[in-house]
Amino acid sequence: MKITFYGQNCLGIKIKEKHILVDPFITGNDLAKDKVDVDSLKADYILLTHAHQDHTLDAERIAKRTGAVIVSNFEIASYYEEKGIEVHPMNHGGSWNFDFGKVKYVIAHHTSSFPDGSYGGQPGGFVIEGEHKNIYIAGDTALTLDMKLIPLSTKLDLAILPIGDNFTMGIDDAVIASNFVECDKVLGVHYDTFGFIEIDHEEAKRKFYDANKDLMLLAIGESIEL
Ligand code: NI
Ligand code: MN
Repeated sequence: MKITFYGQNCLGIKIKEKHILVDPFITGNDLAKDKVDVDSLKADYILLTHAHQDHTLDAERIAKRTGAVIVSNFEIASYYEEKGIEVHPMNHGGSWNFDFGKVKYVIAHHTSSFPDGSYGGQPGGFVIEGEHKNIYIAGDTALTLDMKLIPLSTKLDLAILPIGDNFTMGIDDAVIASNFVECDKVLGVHYDTFGFIEIDHEEAKRKFYDANKDLMLLAIGESIEL
């Protein structure tokens, strides 16, 4: 499994020659737009955690170019289906076996409306079990006890957690979240994109290190191999 960070909560995940794009937000992200070409990103599937613009802005453009299937909650899937895009609707607690692996849509504590005010259902995260490696993409969320349910069914190799504070968990709660999901390897996301979520990288890494955990902060465009 190869994971590439494209800024904010946008990730490219390659499993079994399939390209899964999560929360595409490139053209509106000053940190990413000169580093990532939105029109050459590959996607067989686009996973959307919730409807906020910093997660969905480029989804329609990429889906229409690539023919990718949008996977999200029922309301978000319906929104894109009306635009003629192929979708796979899910809801909390449900799993589906895709050709790249098993995806479960899990609880997140946040909100979810489209920029035009359309209802975006309830926000979520994804647990992906693929190619002997399992990951948790928390999406935008507060620290929540629901995270403790995840290791009851899935042994995680990586937790992808928001750490920017203000709109989501901050660093201290993300350390606790990594305990709840029983995963010591964390990829931090949802930081530095706007003034409200700027963080001190060294302090963030030190807090995870002090908890005997590893926090990775990737440069935009940088990849890791699991
Ligand atoms: Ni959000
Ligand atoms: Mn967000």
